[in-house]
Amino acid sequence: MGIQNFPFPLSLRKFFRMNTKKAIESLVIMTELVLPNDTNLHNNLMGGRLMYWMDIAAALAASKHSNTPVVTASVDNISFTNPIELGNVVHIEAKVTRAFTSSMEVHLNVWGEDIIQQNKYKSNEAYYTFVSLGSDEKPKQVPQLTPETEEEKELFVSALRRRQLRLILGGKMKTEDASELKALFMGE
Ligand SMILES: CC(C)(COP(=O)(O)OP(=O)(O)OC[C@H]1O[C@@H](n2cnc3c(N)ncnc32)[C@H](O)[C@@H]1OP(=O)(O)O)[C@@H](O)C(=O)NCCC(=O)NCCS
Repeated sequence: MGIQNFPFPLSLRKFFRMNTKKAIESLVIMTELVLPNDTNLHNNLMGGRLMYWMDIAAALAASKHSNTPVVTASVDNISFTNPIELGNVVHIEAKVTRAFTSSMEVHLNVWGEDIIQQNKYKSNEAYYTFVSLGSDEKPKQVPQLTPETEEEKELFVSALRRRQLRLILGGKMKTEDASELKALFMGE
């Protein structure tokens, strides 16, 4: 067992600044019922309402990891695979994939469920990025994240590529500095 994984009490962890947390510690599971006020003209859940719920679930996951208030910095592409009907249930799972300096990437999985027909179906998957804020409202350093399962490890590694892509798209990184993307596309 590595020293980072030894179950020291929280007070000792803080004292020695053993600032790393497991991905599972950030897990948030949200369940909502699609009511008439949540739907579009086709009696399906409105995309904007779903993104609102996803934003809340993801912010809670990021905040559980950082133990600070957080703000949404960016939302990656969201494709809605299947509509979620009025009266169906929405299941949202959010978990931090990787922590950088002050920012954290959160992965979301969303399903719809018809409880009467006992049919659960995938709605979408997305990545949100949050920034931890200190009491001065400025970006604040967050604990590093330790992935444990195979899926968490894959998401942890690929998070670097997704970060570089969204920072380029957000005008926060030059393409020539995106080492992970260059390695992926140009074999450098
Ligand atoms: C997100 C925000 C805090 C970043 O502040 P900033 O002064 O640009 O700070 P920096 O450039 O030092 O970046 C801080 C972190 O944000 C990340 N970041 C900034 N813009 C980003 C973007 N578009 N996508 C992903 N991450 C981003 C940086 O990569 C950095 O992460 P790191 O510390 O882990 O390396 C600031 O832009 C903000 O407050 N935006 C509004 C947030 C908001 O109101 N959200 C709700 C939507 S209405």
